Amino acid sequence: MTDSYLCPYCAVTVDAFDALKTHVIAEHSTEPLPLPDGVIQLTINKQAYQLYVEPEWTLHHVIHDRLGLTGTKTFCDRGACGSCTVNIDSRPVLSCMTLAIECKGKTIETIEGISADHHPLIEAYVTQHAMQCGYCTPGFIVTGKALLDHNADPTEEEIKEALAGNLCRCGTYPQHPKAVLEAAQVLREGR
Ligand code: FES
Ligand code: FES
Repeated sequence: MTDSYLCPYCAVTVDAFDALKTHVIAEHSTEPLPLPDGVIQLTINKQAYQLYVEPEWTLHHVIHDRLGLTGTKTFCDRGACGSCTVNIDSRPVLSCMTLAIECKGKTIETIEGISADHHPLIEAYVTQHAMQCGYCTPGFIVTGKALLDHNADPTEEEIKEALAGNLCRCGTYPQHPKAVLEAAQVLREGR
């Protein structure tokens, strides 16, 4: 049996270590080192991370349990309630239904990032009393943030449609459109 050596960059096989060295220097010398299996790079709340993730780990598990960003909640853990919503590349995504390994290279925003940026939604949710127990609130705000990123002047109907996947056991539904409308106005006025 002859030895074979696999190029970590392009998976070509050669039969000697020296041949592999020659190939890597000739073909890949300007490329960054490839990441080991299971290691992903991604950005969360403007901070770059390089993380090892098991294939079955959800994005929620990584954000909440591994990184300690506990603002992202889970109610149902099966894609039905929206409480685990985070924004990936500025689109709301259910983190309980998303595998972390699929988030390689993505830009992710959680409620902590929105809060750190002092987004007007945070204040509007307070002034409009748009929460009771508050458990669902991060999911609503993250979803509302994605809406406002793409639509600076949404109608009440558009807001209700955007938030339709978010459930609240406390029944705070009437207040959410009011809070998003208030935040949209603050943003438009540059306050
Ligand atoms: S916890 Fe993810 S949708 Fe309910
Ligand atoms: S405020 Fe309690 S679940 Fe929504």
